[in-house]
Amino acid sequence: MRIIILKDNQAVADFGAQHIQNKLRQQPSSTLGLATGSSPIKLYEQLITAYKNNEVSFKDVTTFNLDEYLGLADVHPQSYRHFMNTQLFNHLDIKLTNTFVPDGSTTDPFKTCADYEELIVGKGGIDLQLLGIGKNGHIGFNEPSSSLASRTRVKTLSKSTVEANQHFFNPDEFQPYLSITMGIGSIMEAKEILLIATGETKANAIQQTVEGPLSAHCPASILQMHSKAIIAMDEDAAQQLHDIDFYKYVEKENQRYIKS
Ligand code: GLP
Repeated sequence: MRIIILKDNQAVADFGAQHIQNKLRQQPSSTLGLATGSSPIKLYEQLITAYKNNEVSFKDVTTFNLDEYLGLADVHPQSYRHFMNTQLFNHLDIKLTNTFVPDGSTTDPFKTCADYEELIVGKGGIDLQLLGIGKNGHIGFNEPSSSLASRTRVKTLSKSTVEANQHFFNPDEFQPYLSITMGIGSIMEAKEILLIATGETKANAIQQTVEGPLSAHCPASILQMHSKAIIAMDEDAAQQLHDIDFYKYVEKENQRYIKS
Protein backbone atom coordinates (compact mmCIF):
# COMPACT_ATOMS: atom_id res chain seq x y z
CA MET A 1 0.00 0.00 0.00
CA ARG A 2 1.15 3.51 -0.73
CA ILE A 3 0.21 5.70 2.25
CA ILE A 4 -0.01 9.39 1.52
CA ILE A 5 -0.60 11.84 4.36
CA LEU A 6 -1.62 15.32 3.25
CA LYS A 7 -2.35 18.57 5.04
CA ASP A 8 -6.13 18.75 4.75
CA ASN A 9 -9.31 17.85 2.92
CA GLN A 10 -8.47 20.13 0.00
CA ALA A 11 -5.01 18.61 -0.47
CA VAL A 12 -6.55 15.11 -0.54
CA ALA A 13 -9.08 16.26 -3.17
CA ASP A 14 -6.32 17.87 -5.24
CA PHE A 15 -4.17 14.75 -5.08
CA GLY A 16 -7.07 12.43 -5.94
CA ALA A 17 -8.27 14.57 -8.85
CA GLN A 18 -4.74 14.83 -10.21
CA HIS A 19 -4.28 11.09 -9.91
CA ILE A 20 -7.47 10.43 -11.89
CA GLN A 21 -6.52 13.00 -14.52
CA ASN A 22 -3.09 11.41 -14.94
CA LYS A 23 -4.79 8.07 -15.46
CA LEU A 24 -7.12 9.52 -18.10
CA ARG A 25 -4.25 11.20 -19.93
CA GLN A 26 -2.41 7.86 -20.12
CA GLN A 27 -5.59 5.91 -20.94
CA PRO A 28 -8.43 8.15 -22.16
CA SER A 29 -10.87 5.24 -22.42
CA SER A 30 -10.37 4.11 -18.82
CA THR A 31 -13.09 2.45 -16.81
CA LEU A 32 -13.36 4.21 -13.45
CA GLY A 33 -14.99 2.86 -10.32
CA LEU A 34 -16.62 5.75 -8.46
CA ALA A 35 -17.86 6.42 -4.94
CA THR A 36 -20.47 8.62 -3.29
CA GLY A 37 -20.67 10.19 0.17
CA SER A 38 -19.11 13.42 1.43
CA SER A 39 -15.51 12.34 0.88
CA PRO A 40 -15.29 12.63 -2.94
CA ILE A 41 -17.31 15.84 -3.34
CA LYS A 42 -14.31 18.20 -3.43
CA LEU A 43 -12.40 15.78 -5.65
CA TYR A 44 -15.31 15.79 -8.13
CA GLU A 45 -15.34 19.61 -8.05
CA GLN A 46 -11.67 19.55 -9.00
CA LEU A 47 -12.35 17.18 -11.91
CA ILE A 48 -15.13 19.47 -13.16
CA THR A 49 -12.77 22.46 -13.00
CA ALA A 50 -10.07 20.53 -14.86
CA TYR A 51 -12.58 19.55 -17.55
CA LYS A 52 -13.80 23.15 -17.92
CA ASN A 53 -10.17 24.27 -18.28
CA ASN A 54 -9.71 21.70 -21.09
CA GLU A 55 -7.19 19.77 -19.02
CA VAL A 56 -9.03 16.46 -19.24
CA SER A 57 -11.83 14.81 -21.19
CA PHE A 58 -14.27 12.10 -20.13
CA LYS A 59 -15.80 11.46 -23.55
CA ASP A 60 -14.40 7.92 -23.78
CA VAL A 61 -14.62 7.09 -20.07
CA THR A 62 -16.88 4.41 -18.61
CA THR A 63 -17.81 4.48 -14.92
CA PHE A 64 -19.25 2.01 -12.43
CA ASN A 65 -20.49 3.17 -9.06
CA LEU A 66 -19.91 1.07 -5.99
CA ASP A 67 -23.40 1.01 -4.59
CA GLU A 68 -26.98 2.25 -4.46
CA TYR A 69 -29.79 2.29 -1.92
CA LEU A 70 -32.26 -0.52 -2.52
CA GLY A 71 -35.74 0.98 -2.77
CA LEU A 72 -34.78 4.36 -4.21
CA ALA A 73 -35.50 5.09 -7.88
CA ASP A 74 -32.73 6.79 -9.84
CA VAL A 75 -34.66 10.10 -9.87
CA HIS A 76 -34.92 10.16 -6.05
CA PRO A 77 -32.89 13.11 -4.76
CA GLN A 78 -31.06 10.87 -2.24
CA SER A 79 -30.27 8.12 -4.73
CA TYR A 80 -26.62 7.66 -5.57
CA ARG A 81 -27.51 7.94 -9.29
CA HIS A 82 -28.91 11.41 -8.60
CA PHE A 83 -25.84 12.26 -6.53
CA MET A 84 -23.48 11.25 -9.35
CA ASN A 85 -25.45 13.10 -12.03
CA THR A 86 -25.62 16.32 -10.04
CA GLN A 87 -22.18 16.24 -8.41
CA LEU A 88 -20.22 15.08 -11.45
CA PHE A 89 -21.64 13.64 -14.65
CA ASN A 90 -23.90 16.56 -15.65
CA HIS A 91 -20.87 18.87 -15.65
CA LEU A 92 -18.57 16.74 -17.85
CA ASP A 93 -18.47 15.55 -21.46
CA ILE A 94 -19.08 11.97 -20.29
CA LYS A 95 -21.83 10.01 -22.08
CA LEU A 96 -24.48 9.21 -19.47
CA THR A 97 -25.01 5.87 -21.22
CA ASN A 98 -21.44 4.97 -20.23
CA THR A 99 -22.13 5.59 -16.54
CA PHE A 100 -23.45 2.71 -14.46
CA VAL A 101 -24.98 2.70 -10.98
CA PRO A 102 -26.78 -0.37 -9.57
CA ASP A 103 -30.55 -0.08 -10.11
CA GLY A 104 -32.07 0.65 -6.70
CA SER A 105 -35.62 0.31 -8.02
CA THR A 106 -35.14 -3.23 -9.28
CA THR A 107 -37.80 -5.84 -8.54
CA ASP A 108 -35.22 -8.60 -9.00
CA PRO A 109 -32.15 -7.55 -6.98
CA PHE A 110 -30.41 -10.89 -7.40
CA LYS A 111 -30.49 -10.62 -11.20
CA THR A 112 -29.51 -6.95 -11.02
CA CYS A 113 -26.44 -7.85 -8.94
CA ALA A 114 -25.39 -10.68 -11.25
CA ASP A 115 -25.92 -8.46 -14.32
CA TYR A 116 -23.80 -5.68 -12.77
CA GLU A 117 -20.90 -8.08 -12.27
CA GLU A 118 -21.21 -9.28 -15.87
CA LEU A 119 -21.32 -5.74 -17.18
CA ILE A 120 -18.09 -4.84 -15.36
CA VAL A 121 -16.36 -7.90 -16.80
CA GLY A 122 -17.83 -7.12 -20.25
CA LYS A 123 -16.25 -3.64 -20.15
CA GLY A 124 -12.87 -5.18 -19.36
CA GLY A 125 -12.90 -4.61 -15.60
CA ILE A 126 -12.21 -1.47 -13.59
CA ASP A 127 -8.92 0.31 -14.23
CA LEU A 128 -9.01 2.66 -11.25
CA GLN A 129 -11.41 2.33 -8.33
CA LEU A 130 -12.03 5.34 -6.09
CA LEU A 131 -13.14 4.49 -2.54
CA GLY A 132 -14.23 6.36 0.56
CA ILE A 133 -14.32 4.60 3.91
CA GLY A 134 -17.02 4.33 6.56
CA LYS A 135 -16.30 5.09 10.23
CA ASN A 136 -16.52 1.34 10.83
CA GLY A 137 -14.10 0.55 7.98
CA HIS A 138 -16.72 -0.30 5.36
CA ILE A 139 -16.00 0.12 1.65
CA GLY A 140 -18.93 0.48 -0.71
CA PHE A 141 -21.68 -0.77 1.59
CA ASN A 142 -19.66 -3.81 2.68
CA GLU A 143 -20.22 -3.58 6.40
CA PRO A 144 -18.06 -5.32 9.03
CA SER A 145 -18.39 -9.13 8.77
CA SER A 146 -18.84 -8.94 4.98
CA SER A 147 -17.03 -11.78 3.27
CA LEU A 148 -13.69 -10.57 1.99
CA ALA A 149 -14.45 -12.59 -1.18
CA SER A 150 -18.00 -11.20 -1.64
CA ARG A 151 -19.49 -10.21 -4.99
CA THR A 152 -22.16 -7.62 -5.86
CA ARG A 153 -25.17 -8.33 -3.67
CA VAL A 154 -27.83 -6.95 -1.33
CA LYS A 155 -26.47 -5.80 2.05
CA THR A 156 -28.17 -4.55 5.19
CA LEU A 157 -26.67 -1.31 6.47
CA SER A 158 -25.32 -1.10 9.98
CA LYS A 159 -26.89 1.29 12.49
CA SER A 160 -23.76 3.44 12.46
CA THR A 161 -23.86 3.76 8.65
CA VAL A 162 -27.56 4.69 8.66
CA GLU A 163 -26.80 7.33 11.30
CA ALA A 164 -23.73 8.64 9.45
CA ASN A 165 -25.77 9.12 6.27
CA GLN A 166 -28.81 10.60 8.03
CA HIS A 167 -27.74 14.16 7.27
CA PHE A 168 -28.39 13.58 3.55
CA PHE A 169 -32.09 12.87 4.28
CA ASN A 170 -34.90 15.15 5.50
CA PRO A 171 -36.14 14.18 8.99
CA ASP A 172 -39.50 12.92 7.66
CA GLU A 173 -38.00 11.19 4.62
CA PHE A 174 -37.73 7.39 4.26
CA GLN A 175 -34.09 6.37 4.70
CA PRO A 176 -33.30 2.95 3.23
CA TYR A 177 -31.47 0.39 5.32
CA LEU A 178 -30.80 -1.97 2.43
CA SER A 179 -28.36 -1.49 -0.42
CA ILE A 180 -26.89 -3.10 -3.49
CA THR A 181 -23.12 -2.97 -3.29
CA MET A 182 -20.21 -4.26 -5.25
CA GLY A 183 -18.60 -6.96 -3.16
CA ILE A 184 -15.16 -6.82 -1.60
CA GLY A 185 -13.98 -9.47 -4.06
CA SER A 186 -15.38 -7.39 -6.93
CA ILE A 187 -13.63 -4.23 -5.66
CA MET A 188 -10.32 -6.08 -5.27
CA GLU A 189 -10.37 -6.98 -8.99
CA ALA A 190 -9.84 -3.32 -9.91
CA LYS A 191 -6.39 -2.90 -11.42
CA GLU A 192 -5.68 0.06 -9.18
CA ILE A 193 -7.41 1.44 -6.07
CA LEU A 194 -7.39 4.90 -4.51
CA LEU A 195 -9.02 5.24 -1.09
CA ILE A 196 -9.47 8.75 0.30
CA ALA A 197 -10.20 9.59 3.94
CA THR A 198 -10.50 12.90 5.73
CA GLY A 199 -11.38 14.01 9.24
CA GLU A 200 -10.80 12.54 12.66
CA THR A 201 -14.00 10.45 12.53
CA LYS A 202 -12.12 8.21 10.05
CA ALA A 203 -8.92 7.95 12.14
CA ASN A 204 -9.75 4.65 13.83
CA ALA A 205 -10.90 3.02 10.58
CA ILE A 206 -7.72 4.20 8.85
CA GLN A 207 -5.52 2.84 11.64
CA GLN A 208 -7.29 -0.53 11.37
CA THR A 209 -7.05 -0.47 7.57
CA VAL A 210 -3.34 0.29 7.44
CA GLU A 211 -1.99 -1.33 10.60
CA GLY A 212 -4.68 -3.64 11.88
CA PRO A 213 -4.92 -7.31 11.07
CA LEU A 214 -6.50 -8.34 7.80
CA SER A 215 -10.05 -8.86 9.01
CA ALA A 216 -13.68 -8.82 7.89
CA HIS A 217 -14.20 -6.72 11.02
CA CYS A 218 -12.59 -3.86 9.08
CA PRO A 219 -13.45 -4.53 5.42
CA ALA A 220 -11.00 -1.91 4.10
CA SER A 221 -8.10 -3.89 5.63
CA ILE A 222 -8.37 -6.15 2.56
CA LEU A 223 -6.51 -3.41 0.68
CA GLN A 224 -3.35 -4.73 2.34
CA MET A 225 -3.69 -7.57 -0.19
CA HIS A 226 -3.92 -5.31 -3.26
CA SER A 227 -0.73 -4.80 -5.23
CA LYS A 228 -1.64 -1.29 -6.38
CA ALA A 229 -3.58 0.49 -3.64
CA ILE A 230 -3.10 4.07 -2.51
CA ILE A 231 -4.56 5.35 0.75
CA ALA A 232 -4.60 9.16 0.67
CA MET A 233 -5.66 10.90 3.88
CA ASP A 234 -5.42 14.19 5.70
CA GLU A 235 -3.59 14.71 9.00
CA ASP A 236 -6.84 14.34 10.97
CA ALA A 237 -7.58 10.92 9.51
CA ALA A 238 -3.93 9.89 10.03
CA GLN A 239 -3.78 10.81 13.72
CA GLN A 240 -4.10 7.27 15.13
CA LEU A 241 -1.44 5.70 12.89
CA HIS A 242 1.43 4.32 15.01
CA ASP A 243 4.10 4.55 12.30
CA ILE A 244 3.16 7.91 10.85
CA ASP A 245 6.77 9.18 10.63
CA PHE A 246 7.80 6.09 8.69
CA TYR A 247 4.96 6.51 6.18
CA LYS A 248 5.88 10.16 5.63
CA TYR A 249 9.54 9.24 5.16
CA VAL A 250 8.70 6.49 2.66
CA GLU A 251 6.40 8.77 0.67
CA LYS A 252 9.10 11.44 0.52
CA GLU A 253 11.40 8.82 -0.98
CA ASN A 254 8.62 7.70 -3.36
CA GLN A 255 8.39 11.23 -4.75
CA ARG A 256 11.82 10.73 -6.34
CA TYR A 257 10.53 8.15 -8.79
CA ILE A 258 6.69 8.08 -8.79
CA LYS A 259 4.92 10.74 -10.87
CA SER A 260 1.49 10.51 -9.19
C1 GLP B 1 -21.22 5.60 2.45
C2 GLP B 1 -20.93 4.97 1.07
C3 GLP B 1 -19.46 4.67 0.93
C4 GLP B 1 -18.70 5.86 1.48
C5 GLP B 1 -18.84 5.87 2.97
C6 GLP B 1 -18.26 7.09 3.64
O1 GLP B 1 -22.23 5.01 3.15
N1 GLP B 1 -21.66 3.80 0.74
O2 GLP B 1 -19.15 4.42 -0.43
O3 GLP B 1 -17.34 5.75 1.17
O4 GLP B 1 -20.17 5.60 3.37
O5 GLP B 1 -19.09 8.20 3.48
P1 GLP B 1 -18.61 9.68 3.71
O6 GLP B 1 -17.64 9.97 2.62
O7 GLP B 1 -19.84 10.51 3.61
O8 GLP B 1 -17.97 9.73 5.04
